[in-house]
Amino acid sequence: MNPDPTASRAGFREDDGEGGRILALTMISTPTKCATRHLSDQFETPVSPSLYSCACFNYLTFHVTILITGGAGFIGGNFVLDWLAQSNDAVINLDKLTYAGNPETLASLQSDPRHTLVQGDIGDSALLAGLLAQHRPRAVVNFAAESHVDRSIHGPEDFIQTNIVGTFRLLEAVRAYWMGMASDAKAAFRFLHVSTDEVYGSLSKDAPAFTEAHRYEPNSPYSASKAASDHLVRAWHHTYGLPVLTTNCSNNYGPYHFPEKLIPLMIVNALAGKPLPVYGDGLQVRDWLYVKDHCSAIRRVLAAGTPGEVYNVGGWNEKPNIEIVQTVCRLLDAMRPRADGQSYSAQITYVKDRPGHDRRYAIDASKIERELGWKPAETFETGIEKTIAWYLANPEWVAHVQSGAYREWVQTHYAQPEGVQQGLASSAESSAS
Ligand code: NAD
Ligand code: DAU
Repeated sequence: MNPDPTASRAGFREDDGEGGRILALTMISTPTKCATRHLSDQFETPVSPSLYSCACFNYLTFHVTILITGGAGFIGGNFVLDWLAQSNDAVINLDKLTYAGNPETLASLQSDPRHTLVQGDIGDSALLAGLLAQHRPRAVVNFAAESHVDRSIHGPEDFIQTNIVGTFRLLEAVRAYWMGMASDAKAAFRFLHVSTDEVYGSLSKDAPAFTEAHRYEPNSPYSASKAASDHLVRAWHHTYGLPVLTTNCSNNYGPYHFPEKLIPLMIVNALAGKPLPVYGDGLQVRDWLYVKDHCSAIRRVLAAGTPGEVYNVGGWNEKPNIEIVQTVCRLLDAMRPRADGQSYSAQITYVKDRPGHDRRYAIDASKIERELGWKPAETFETGIEKTIAWYLANPEWVAHVQSGAYREWVQTHYAQPEGVQQGLASSAESSAS
């Protein structure tokens, strides 16, 4: 079915027999003039005039959708929310909804037809091929991963499957799709892979921060799996010419962070009167970046990065863990004092260290600033205050992720046809046949 080009605000759906899928939504004033912010708004790669003067139909179907993977997780969720706050581009959000994927993070988009959440695995080739063919995204941003170092130590299998095999399958599906694109769209297409500073290994106390030229020395199953995925992405560019971009970012913090990671765990445990577990001597150093700044860096790299290049992203905020924990306690003391008048720091408990614990990470983010003009907007002081304020204001979100209630939330809130699409079931059927 074609979109109605005369509608003043027209979403258009293709009836695929599964209840309808939103392909894109835009503002259309006349059949020949499209009021949508065009490719150039978010993508600075030159595109042909024919795309600007767009025959809206082609524009809609081929150029206003981006595919995000892992967009129900911490960073992906923040990215989707920020993207849709700033752009009319539709988002297809492919997420397996593991324990870390929480559609409740995307609750404000529930009736926003620009967002479609598809439950499925980046390792599912049939599902990927179908989504790419149907939605014709102009870019793919890959956030999907198993991301928790401690979990990777206890059970590395899922990390190998998603981070390595999944990235490989995604690259293959995207390559096939990209090969079949028309030349203008093919030139403008981007695959952005979101990676981590942990691939570079651990720094000694006085060593300079990681640049993009630092050798890869991953030390945990998690970082080794991310390193492998980075190598695959690089090779798909070098060998096949796929226009890839890779970002390697330092530790993020902010809203919607699953409370298994240091900062949200400390906030949540402190408020619950539980111990605040500090691994080893607490003097390991991490370089902290407010999540919204990571999202803006990704948008900037997507818009202006050079294919094949790697960009380190960081906040210039190196801090030992114990200082982070003490800061959280100090702010909570001021913002939500304990009933007994004591400091939350009384709850700090030193525990056994993480095996193979990397001592120090630090990102040199000069390249992205020099070449793309990106800098973080938040300092650690402003970002951590916003983060704590968010957790204090959103106890339900925390309670639900802790109880697993968000799984029920999917059922009750996404029952409408345009809600979560179950990609797994349909593609499992197709691969079985
Ligand atoms: P997260 O664990 O919060 O979210 C990961 C998301 O991916 C979840 O929604 C999960 O359901 C989804 N997912 C997992 N396996 C999947 C699969 N096979 N198919 C589809 N979806 C799947 O992670 P995060 O902290 O948001 O990290 C996002 C990305 O950023 C990861 O690639 C991570 O390596 C990278 N990164 C994270 C940080 C950080 O500090 N959190 C820093 C730098 C880079
Ligand atoms: O550097 C980027 C990476 O940052 C990302 O690639 C990972 O996905 C992300 O999880 C994060 O990894 P870390 O291992 O650095 O984050 P985590 O929050 O698990 O731990 C931060 C530091 O705090 C680390 O030195 C371990 C320590 N820690 C962590 C927890 C959960 C504690 O001391 N106590 C804790 O309870």
